[in-house]
Amino acid sequence: MKTPVAVLISGSGSNLQAMLDKAAAGVLAADIRLVLSNRGDAYGLARAAKCGIPTAVVEHGAYPCREAFDTALVAAIRKSGAEVVVLAGFMRILGPGFVTAFSQRILNIHPALLPSFPGVHGQPDAARHGVKISGCTVHFVDEKMDHGPIVIQAAVPAHAEDDGKALGGRILALEHRIFPQAVHWLCTGRLSIVGRHVRLAPADVAPADMSGLGPCLVNPPLEQGF
Ligand code: GRF
Repeated sequence: MKTPVAVLISGSGSNLQAMLDKAAAGVLAADIRLVLSNRGDAYGLARAAKCGIPTAVVEHGAYPCREAFDTALVAAIRKSGAEVVVLAGFMRILGPGFVTAFSQRILNIHPALLPSFPGVHGQPDAARHGVKISGCTVHFVDEKMDHGPIVIQAAVPAHAEDDGKALGGRILALEHRIFPQAVHWLCTGRLSIVGRHVRLAPADVAPADMSGLGPCLVNPPLEQGF
């Protein structure tokens, strides 16, 4: 049984594409019912349309306040039948009304190792700071930005000559692996939240093929298919 999912985007949608690819390969336990963007020009909308997935545009500028925007988002998602919400490069902060509507059923990806470098410039902030390791984080969404309980993280080396773009590219390749995996875990009911900790129920699944990835550390480890 697949879980109905809505994916929210604002831009390119490469993380959305990673999920569409896993869905097409038959490994993702998600039925992507809706791709919703707050921008009409988001390329991810074309990616969804190509796969025959319904799309919607809810422009934040068309609403008088954040609450009204959030209400419109909730309505569109509910109409699609989605029970899980995936924020794949969705560049708006969601208020308590939205978070409560899908409590413990919203995942976000952030391109840094939280709690370091929250906010919209995670990769350049980390590169400028001179870190030796950075990465990406999938976490449950709560009322605070880039804050909720962490599901999975992937770490990659950061080099002195890296700018945000170079480091960001290395991170993005791992985003495309850990995000579909986290969505799959949520959709198969294997995640539970205990305080700040996310527990992953064990399953009899072989480890993923990590060949082709550069040096990295992923925890919990990726499973076969992801
Ligand atoms: C990713 O780096 C993600 O971590 C961040 O926004 C970017 C979205 O990229 N939240 P894409 O639209 O999935 O290509």
